[in-house]
Amino acid sequence: MKIENAVVIITGANRGIGLSFAEAALQRGAKKVYAAARDPASITLKGVVPVKLDVTSAAEVASTSASCKDVTLVINNAGIARPGGLMTPNGIEAAREHLETNLFGVLRMMQSFAPLLTANGGGAFLNVLSVASWINSGALTGYSVSKSAAWSLTNGIRQELRSQNIQVLGLHMGFVDTDMTRGFDVVKVSPQSIVERALDALEAGASEVLADQRARDIKHGLTAETPVYL
Ligand SMILES: NC(=O)c1ccc[n+]([C@@H]2O[C@H](COP(=O)([O-])OP(=O)(O)OC[C@H]3O[C@@H](n4cnc5c(N)ncnc54)[C@H](OP(=O)(O)O)[C@@H]3O)[C@@H](O)[C@H]2O)c1
Repeated sequence: MKIENAVVIITGANRGIGLSFAEAALQRGAKKVYAAARDPASITLKGVVPVKLDVTSAAEVASTSASCKDVTLVINNAGIARPGGLMTPNGIEAAREHLETNLFGVLRMMQSFAPLLTANGGGAFLNVLSVASWINSGALTGYSVSKSAAWSLTNGIRQELRSQNIQVLGLHMGFVDTDMTRGFDVVKVSPQSIVERALDALEAGASEVLADQRARDIKHGLTAETPVYL
């Protein structure tokens, strides 16, 4: 789908990759950009419509879809990554916290907005995933579990929605230079570079985009004799 004249909603649009998506959508000529955030006062970008939205709240997702009926593109960007493993006394709680935002948050948005996209002639979901969908290093175990689940969700719902002319794009990448990776001593790419590749892929009608070299290398390594996840 084309961004020009699209009506876009982006979750977690106040900072990081979500903010870059909002800026790029405006630059590409979106008709309207709903910038959703838990605290709408944290939306400082000019030209967007701030929306209060915590994706873990079914009531807020429902009220958002009820008041943003013209949306044609949903960017499921909001996410959390708590460092640590799950073999801890609070491991179940930690896994649930990740799933609540990174999996069920995405599912809530897709359930709530799919009928609107259909009513508006099709449109698209862009789900922000990660190389953590494919590998789990043990450093962010709950996060990787939730991103693997969100990848599967993205693939399944793409099939469920195929007959409704809705594009579902999964976005994978390695480390991006945002608050989420602050203090990580690794090579990072800019949020802008990821967003440009993601929106180019969306406009080209793709179902999946590997937006940096790390994502391409890791995906390739899944089929090695000793796969990269071992
Ligand atoms: N940075 C990376 O290296 C990297 C790599 C691969 C994938 N990703 C994915 O990219 C997405 C954006 O990450 P980022 O790097 O931009 O992270 P970030 O800088 O930490 O920003 C996270 C965003 O998600 C929002 N958020 C968190 N929980 C939310 C909730 N329950 N409801 C609504 N919004 C919520 C945050 O809002 P508040 O300001 O209210 O906290 C913030 O806007 C995430 O899905 C992440 O998993 C990131």
